[in-house]
Amino acid sequence: MGRYAEVHKRSLGDKEGFWLEAAKLVSWSKAPSRALDASNPPFYRWFPDGRLNVSHNCLDRHVEAGRGDQPALIYDSPMAGKTETYSYRELARRVAKFAGGLRSLGVEKGDRVLIYMPMVPEAVIAMLACARIGAIHGVVFGGFAAPELATRIDDAKPKAIVFCSCGLEPGRTIAYKALVDQALSIAKHKVKTCVVFQRPQLRAEPVPGRDIDFADLEARSQPVDPVDLASTDPLYILYTSGTTGIPKGVVRDGGGYAVALMWSMHNVYAVKPGEVWWSASDVGWVVGHSYIVYAPLLLGATTILYEGKPVGTPDAGAFWRVIAQHGAVALFTAPTAFRAIKRDDPDGLLMKKYDLSRFRTLFLAGERCDPNTLLWAEAQLKVSVVDHWWQTETGWPITANCLGIEAFKVKPGSSTKAVPGWDVQALGEDHKPVKPGEVGALAIKLPLPPGSLPTLWQNDQGFLKSYLEEFPGYYKTGDAGYIDEDGYIFVMTRTDDIINVAGHRLSTGGMEEVLSNHPDVAECAVIGVADELKGQLPLGFLVLKAGVNRPHEAIVKEVAQMVRESIGPVAAFKTALVVKRLPKTRSGKILRGTMQKIADDQSWKMPATIDDPAILHEITADLKTVGYAKGA
Ligand code: COA
Ligand code: AMP
Repeated sequence: MGRYAEVHKRSLGDKEGFWLEAAKLVSWSKAPSRALDASNPPFYRWFPDGRLNVSHNCLDRHVEAGRGDQPALIYDSPMAGKTETYSYRELARRVAKFAGGLRSLGVEKGDRVLIYMPMVPEAVIAMLACARIGAIHGVVFGGFAAPELATRIDDAKPKAIVFCSCGLEPGRTIAYKALVDQALSIAKHKVKTCVVFQRPQLRAEPVPGRDIDFADLEARSQPVDPVDLASTDPLYILYTSGTTGIPKGVVRDGGGYAVALMWSMHNVYAVKPGEVWWSASDVGWVVGHSYIVYAPLLLGATTILYEGKPVGTPDAGAFWRVIAQHGAVALFTAPTAFRAIKRDDPDGLLMKKYDLSRFRTLFLAGERCDPNTLLWAEAQLKVSVVDHWWQTETGWPITANCLGIEAFKVKPGSSTKAVPGWDVQALGEDHKPVKPGEVGALAIKLPLPPGSLPTLWQNDQGFLKSYLEEFPGYYKTGDAGYIDEDGYIFVMTRTDDIINVAGHRLSTGGMEEVLSNHPDVAECAVIGVADELKGQLPLGFLVLKAGVNRPHEAIVKEVAQMVRESIGPVAAFKTALVVKRLPKTRSGKILRGTMQKIADDQSWKMPATIDDPAILHEITADLKTVGYAKGA
């Protein structure tokens, strides 16, 4: 048996031994005496009697161990035109003071704090400051609009919001305060205190009595020590798209997460303390939480916080410049970033301008990695390229080529094998595993390993309904795919209406809710269609109310603007087709899956339950007018 097979087998067969051993990678104030609490299935808790503080593990621990002068965080911002380096000592000092500041505002253990900030060091400081005092942070991605922020405010009921005066996107500055003001006016939950980090590019006019200046608060506050927390106390809530417009509040606890992340840095990513690690994502996404902030700092590595794009800031050589300048050994990003680089620099000429000798691995996740992108990256970089699959819910990879255990030959299109701790099965309609090579619903046998979600924020029923009910004894990932004879897992598609646009997870159901609010729209549907750069793009279908005779272009423009203002620019909703009617089953279900297959030129069958086949032919003709369904 190979090393991987041995480790994977032990992780499932001896969970107690395996995870208690992994728990030694973390510094506990009280080490756990047992790993798994399985007393209340299907709710499982990890390290139930362990106590620790994650901020202590990310900062103080390393200062005490002699890493005080080592860079903890390198902020590299082509958008702001600056680079700053923070040592572990400096970052610990700032976090301790800002934590004192939050506490002086009445924020205590268990209180929620929403953080709505771009990629600035103060976002990381605010997250770790919450962790220090046991407050639960909820970071909201800057590309979401005010109504999305309002939904999160109403669900998390935060005591305070920390926001930034502006975000910097190519060609425009995003004024966060107007969005916060709008969100607070929509939300039912009232937030009395906001902390504003002012950037010189655009200052926010503070609201007297509500807005407190970040820098002043930090400067005048006394540093506070990390508080002692239970392993099972929540560290954060991270909202992610579900099948409706209401996002799901994924809860993450501190102990299991810290253990899983530390274990992953050694065994999946094979990175050592002191090395420079770069995850080119955003703190608003799970990749940012786990692999910009927590995992590299838990490990004692140096993390790069990059405020820029793969292309255009200033060119497709940006990633190579960052890797060379800071000596990064690994990069973690989404395949879409590589498709953008390949589009602008197909022969990798810009890469050759930089010294990439220390760079040894590229990790890709966030969306399906098409074989072309993987092969291009391998050919250009001549380093290992690891496609790995995970979700906001899981917090760390489900499948990967675990370089710290045993490197496997890559099969393009597969994110390799189940990571130890994860028992992945492809299930058929009878809820039993299908044969190797057959497509099924990808599900994970319970209990999920440490680090994955214990539940949804104050919504145990929602957790059961969304993930655990359909396949009893399993967690439903919402992805479909197959496992081949060698145990390689191929993640092919979602089984629900979630789409993945440039590595960003979005709900088409949420977009439909917005479109249906347009006064001229009687009925609508949104599907994800294949896009060469972004993987998928949303495409809307509008059936107009009888008697509406305004120009269709105007209506399409208006609904696109509505999606931008309700969900955010990140939805990249630009196109909709006005159609006569929508194809449905006899029971009235819109045939979105079939429409998507036709648009993408995949093989499709006329559904037996279709109400009127002629409508699908009409839709095909409509799709052709905007360049889809070319082969139909
Ligand atoms: N704050 C505010 N707006 C944001 C934003 C943020 N943090 N991030 C993106 N947006 C806006 C963009 O400005 C853009 O607005 P526009 O419609 O006015 O142009 C819109 O949201 C779509 O953004 P994006 O998806 O980034 O598309 P793009 O065309 O600007 O860039 C790529 C394309 C491929 C360069 C870009 O998508 C990219 O870098 N992808 C990497 C993906 C990634 O890191 N995913 C994280 C998961 S690992
Ligand atoms: P998110 O929760 O935003 O991280 O999105 C998770 C979803 O992105 C998964 O359920 C998959 O649909 C998709 N995904 C992430 N990584 C991969 C991958 N390596 N291969 C295929 N799909 C992926």
